[in-house]
Amino acid sequence: MRPGPSSNLAVEKLATRVRDALGPLEGAAFLTRLAVVGDDLVEALTAVYGDRVDVSAFVADLVDDALAAAVSRPLPLRVLDRRREVDQQWFQREHLVGYVCYADRFAGDLRGVGERVDYLAELGIGYLHLMPLLRSRDGENDGGYAVADYDAVDPRLGTMADLEALAAGLHDRGIALCADLVLNHTAREHPWARKALAGHPAYEDFYLLFSDRAEPDAFERTLPEVFPDMAPGSFTFLPETGAWVWTTFREFQWDLRWSNPQVFRAMLGVLFTFANHGVDVVRLDAAPFLWKRLGTDCQNQPEAHRLLQGLRALTRLAMPGVLLKAEAIVGPDHLVPYLGAHDRYRPECDLAYDNQLMVMLWSSLATRDVRLAVHALERRRPAPLSSSWVTYLRGHDDIGWAVADEDAWAVGLDPRAHRAFLAAFYAGKHPGSFGRGADFGLNPATTDVRTSGTAASLAGLEEALEAGVPEQVEGALRRLETLYAVVYSFGGIPLLYMGDELGLRNDTAWADDPQHADDNRWLHRPPMDWDAAERRHDEKQVEGRMFAALRGLAQARGRAPALRSDSATRLLPLPDPHVLGYVRTHPRTAPVLALASFSDDERIVDGSVLDRAGIRTPEHVHSTAGGLQWSDGRLVLPAWGFLWVTDTH
Ligand code: GLC
Repeated sequence: MRPGPSSNLAVEKLATRVRDALGPLEGAAFLTRLAVVGDDLVEALTAVYGDRVDVSAFVADLVDDALAAAVSRPLPLRVLDRRREVDQQWFQREHLVGYVCYADRFAGDLRGVGERVDYLAELGIGYLHLMPLLRSRDGENDGGYAVADYDAVDPRLGTMADLEALAAGLHDRGIALCADLVLNHTAREHPWARKALAGHPAYEDFYLLFSDRAEPDAFERTLPEVFPDMAPGSFTFLPETGAWVWTTFREFQWDLRWSNPQVFRAMLGVLFTFANHGVDVVRLDAAPFLWKRLGTDCQNQPEAHRLLQGLRALTRLAMPGVLLKAEAIVGPDHLVPYLGAHDRYRPECDLAYDNQLMVMLWSSLATRDVRLAVHALERRRPAPLSSSWVTYLRGHDDIGWAVADEDAWAVGLDPRAHRAFLAAFYAGKHPGSFGRGADFGLNPATTDVRTSGTAASLAGLEEALEAGVPEQVEGALRRLETLYAVVYSFGGIPLLYMGDELGLRNDTAWADDPQHADDNRWLHRPPMDWDAAERRHDEKQVEGRMFAALRGLAQARGRAPALRSDSATRLLPLPDPHVLGYVRTHPRTAPVLALASFSDDERIVDGSVLDRAGIRTPEHVHSTAGGLQWSDGRLVLPAWGFLWVTDTH
């Protein structure tokens, strides 16, 4: 905060309080951080709440909250903070690979997860994302994304003490813990919602309640539906009061009114408490939806960004080792602002999902043509240096075919037709398709449709195993390995989705649980198959092949510093539309050229690509073939193969 003369006294008082509370060393660090983030904080909150509150007083309260959180932060976490303040690129390192799972589906409960750390270590995991952990409503709860109590771990998974013990155990092994914070909505069973329903005015202001349909109707003119089939519309009627409540997702998930500064303060408190239990990376669920504006799609609004910037500034202040990750699965042009790239850099989230790379990988796989991917990925702005993407192939959600119209037209594709093709291809409806996914969220009005299915089933492994044709199985395994090779090398923290390391196929029993029966995203949320995992060291088996592939990628990435998250990525468009090429460069190390084939046949790549990558004496890093293969001075890439190569000097 830049103190004006009138506030000098207040600043001095604060400084004394901070030093008294934290001691001279940590106090000085806190005050320095306040000086660093203060302007960002005031600016962000003025933009959002300037006409609703006295911002100086509000900020002073929030700084008090941050101080209280810093004071109550356990010592081992403060030690981590200190290390991470010194080593600010701690999450950008080449050895950091992430794993994503549901605690219960992976290992029963949190204690079970703790017992499986050796398994994760085999895969080179340094970052573990556990899906929602906090107590959700009983019955349907959207996989835990309907939180009824932010202060308690879901009893099916354990207790807060279990969470703390798990986090401490992971930290001892050098593994960071990522967990979800659902901040756009609460369950309708949450005490805030209960009080709102009971007519408590302070809590009525926590939600978006409407006494009639006039405003909901006006909003719905431009609001897309997130779950058109499972939960049509964005508002739910409350028979108890005759009012309507905003429910972007399911009818039991009530959107919070973020335009109310008290919601901001309450959720900040939740975030602080959560992180003080040992969570290092907080995944901010459904971040684009926080701000509603009439006449828009109510996503990616400038105020939503400002709110994230405010949360980030305060988190940095209280607990500088904690990162925020935006779950913003939005169109390509809306993505990079979540990492702070606006008209100027405005520190926002440290991490965001590279949804665009994910969509482009699946698109290239279906068309065996990388031109759309090259165009789309080349056009976008890079992530600011202090932030990073998380790259991924599959997650727990459906795949939305976020192909920008502009990108499709630029390479001669009709965008609507291409999106429809991708959905049809991966639902196995297109002639010649190897995909075994399923349609998700068909919107009859727009005909938009998304896709469910595990990576292995989408990439053809399920079909190939059923057909029992070894070459087909080999092709599918290669496709999976090469897709993951891009995920592990393109730039960002790579995330491995539970089960992909064993090639787990769709869960055919997904609908048996009545709570899941209307949501086929459970198709790609199979329980961990520990019997299959027993076969992970047998490379004659599918599980052994995939496990070795994923482990090999992590090890090779760890040996190639240019593959760290914050190295620059430059696409190298090649004359062959079946080959994706890019080079990763970092000022302190040799570049790495990555090539990936999206073709059923062997590809020959002209050696000039090495010059373009700045490589004079090529040295093999990792590949499908296990070494550099040449033909008349040109590089040979096997069908669906990949190659990473660096320079010896
Ligand atoms: C996020 C989650 C998704 C959930 C939604 C509502 O998008 O990833 O699974 O349904 O938020 O919380």
